Amino acid sequence: MLSTLIYRSRLTAGFSPEHLPLLVSKSQQKNENSQVTGVLLFDGTHFLQVLEGPLESVNWLYSIICNDPRHDSVVELMRDYAPRRRFNNLGMELIDLRKAEQSAIFQSPMIPRSRFFDLSGEDRVYKFIKSFMAGDWKTQFTHRTEPEDWTFTPDNRAFGAVSVPLSVGQPCQFAFQPIIEPLKGKISSLEALIRSPSGGSPQEYFGAIPPNKLHEADLYSKAWAFALANKIGIGEHKISINLLPMSLVMVPNAVNILLEQIAQNGLVPEQVIVEVTEDEVISRFDAFQIAVRELRSAGIGLAIDDFGSGFAGLSLLTRFQPDKLKIDRSIVSDIHIHGPKQAIVHAILNCCAALEISVVAEGVEKVEEWCWLEAAGVQRFQGFLFARPVLNGVPDVSWPQRRV
Ligand SMILES: Cc1cc2nc3c(=O)[nH]c(=O)nc-3n(C[C@H](O)[C@H](O)[C@H](O)COP(=O)(O)O)c2cc1C
Repeated sequence: MLSTLIYRSRLTAGFSPEHLPLLVSKSQQKNENSQVTGVLLFDGTHFLQVLEGPLESVNWLYSIICNDPRHDSVVELMRDYAPRRRFNNLGMELIDLRKAEQSAIFQSPMIPRSRFFDLSGEDRVYKFIKSFMAGDWKTQFTHRTEPEDWTFTPDNRAFGAVSVPLSVGQPCQFAFQPIIEPLKGKISSLEALIRSPSGGSPQEYFGAIPPNKLHEADLYSKAWAFALANKIGIGEHKISINLLPMSLVMVPNAVNILLEQIAQNGLVPEQVIVEVTEDEVISRFDAFQIAVRELRSAGIGLAIDDFGSGFAGLSLLTRFQPDKLKIDRSIVSDIHIHGPKQAIVHAILNCCAALEISVVAEGVEKVEEWCWLEAAGVQRFQGFLFARPVLNGVPDVSWPQRRV
């Protein structure tokens, strides 16, 4: 299994950067021998290194590097699994940011191009590299957004007023609700929310299913979400689906089934995000961990849903780091007047920034909530303020516009 590890560290006073080329040429050879590839960035005082390769080799190498006296303050930033190498056949490449033309780095042939690399900019490895280059991790950015400065204009430019007819025998339906980046005017992804055959709530849909068929029904229902996405023509937009984590564990071959559903509907794994809730994850963590590796290896994204509504809390992130974390509506609601909620969101934002996890605020209904969250640093939002879910279709989005 291909694993990725990123760490940051600081050059020790006794080691001169002049000796780096020698360190690198030795490392290149050793890394190639153990099938490790990667990149080492150096900004004059700090290093950021990405190591990718077989899990055991990466762990072994990292344990040696950690004890190297030529650097200290080694901080592990990310461990993940990937469907393919990002650095192809490079045992190790040194990028000395004091000398390199920064804009040229991402055009370098060492950065593999794929359809979804361009779409993303959301890949956590590239985000770590970019923010290291920009020095973002050294400072915090704040700006102000006032409620009275904004008006909201509905717009359906992304999809038009689509509504898709039901298929014969369809066991469930889906409503799409966009997650947006309001100030960029960008749709981040479309969440597919399950509805019963008559359009009723998820509880109504799942309530009619015998308990021993629950996980199968959950997994197989996703085919209808992907089919709807296909009919609507979501193009390169991302789609988020909710899954009971145990559906990935209990249904044999679950990840492959999911991958088939995705392919059959003309989508690719990299545009799919699986959302799971914190309580469901924590209750059977070891079993879920295996499913996570398979999902990540296939290229599928992961989000924690309803964060803050359950019992796991931030400590969940010591065991598992998703691409996205969705702050529960119970924390978002009235946040502009509630000190404890604000403190919690600051902590979540600090923690997620350090781990390059994107944060989404869900259940946003008031302009004031959005303004407070936007000023605190949240960039992605979901809620009635911007768009209500639409059954078998995609709603207009009410984009905020600054009054002149
Ligand atoms: C910032 C930094 C990055 C390093 N990266 C690697 C690496 O990718 N591969 C490697 O074999 N050694 C790397 N090293 C060196 C190892 O810590 C260790 O010194 C080396 O593997 C020992 O090899 P040797 O016993 O063959 O001399 C790095 C050292 C530093 C300070």
